[in-house]
Amino acid sequence: MKEYRGIDLFSGAGGLSIGAEMAGITVKDAIEINKSAAQSYVRNHPNAIMRCEDIRKVDTGEYMAKDNPVFIIMGGPPCQGFSMANTMTRNMDNPNNSMFKEFVRFVKDIRPEWFLFENVWGLTNIDGGETETMIEAEFEKLGYKVKSTILWASDFGVPQNRNRYFMIGNKSGIEFEFPKPFDYKVTVGDALSDLPILSNGDSFAELPYSIPFDEASSYAQIMRAESKTSTQNFVSRNNELVIERYKHIKQGQNWSAIPAELMENYADKGRCHSNIYRRLCSDKPSVVISNYRKSMIIHPTQDRGLSVREAARIQSFPDNYVFEGPLSHIQQQIGNAVPPLLAKAVIEKILSYDKVD
Ligand SMILES: C[S@@+](CC[C@H](N)C(=O)[O-])C[C@H]1O[C@@H](n2cnc3c(N)ncnc32)[C@H](O)[C@@H]1O
Repeated sequence: MKEYRGIDLFSGAGGLSIGAEMAGITVKDAIEINKSAAQSYVRNHPNAIMRCEDIRKVDTGEYMAKDNPVFIIMGGPPCQGFSMANTMTRNMDNPNNSMFKEFVRFVKDIRPEWFLFENVWGLTNIDGGETETMIEAEFEKLGYKVKSTILWASDFGVPQNRNRYFMIGNKSGIEFEFPKPFDYKVTVGDALSDLPILSNGDSFAELPYSIPFDEASSYAQIMRAESKTSTQNFVSRNNELVIERYKHIKQGQNWSAIPAELMENYADKGRCHSNIYRRLCSDKPSVVISNYRKSMIIHPTQDRGLSVREAARIQSFPDNYVFEGPLSHIQQQIGNAVPPLLAKAVIEKILSYDKVD
């Protein structure tokens, strides 16, 4: 059987990679500078070679095995430099764009059949779309046919309203079409109802699920797969005042439902984002799980923040995915990830073109 060799650049803990593997890619190599994220990656992808290093120091020559060409290079470089109000810096020589240039360097040298570049949706709005056009042009210069769009994770079986910008390119001139949304949505209730009941500050490495497999939602059954217990039931400890605030917030409400007397010492209420102190709704997909501890996202029915396993479920990481590092690093790794089921849908579509040939 043909092996579809993949490389994951800026891999984080591996959300994109695990989705790609579910679709049928064999991810052989990954590059990630952050130690905890790289450890998580290695733990869950034992057959891949991880380079825990600054990508700028990595020689692409190491990845050019002639007997096993690379099918896909994928990754989401951090791209702060794209916000360029000043026309003087609006070009690829801006040092802030160096991470994007690294991605281009890999595609240019290795010339994979396909590439998948993902990023924040805001990239399409910068400079009235000029930045996006500039990125497309970089890949077109290399001979790739490029298509890009914004996809919503909740359209692809992920219980979360999170969007992501994808640019897909191939060097065979294929007119790629993005996958169509599924005709159903998965809710927070579907995602969490079989997980253990927890309290503020709990830290249980392993607990039984709260209901048997057969009674769990179809989504929970997919996430559980072969897992017999719920692992990494770690909840950040909030102080009593914060827990008191949580008690006043109903599903779907946010910080604005907290009585004024409980917010007196809140530093800057005027600048509260609408998803600060948001209690999730059981019957809807979740709001974005970016850094769910910092934004104080609240469990739908319990007065506490989300556990690692709950946040991982909302991102569609399977239950056997284990995260490494201190709790705050784990929370960041989960929040940074491309939801695996979204990645799976996009990459299955890419593979469908190859399988027709
Ligand atoms: C948005 S996260 C990637 C998430 C990942 N695609 C996933 O689905 O889990 C971007 C990653 O780029 C890594 N990174 C930033 N600068 C880097 C560099 N110079 N070399 C390698 N990795 C870098 C960060 O540590 C971070 O984990």
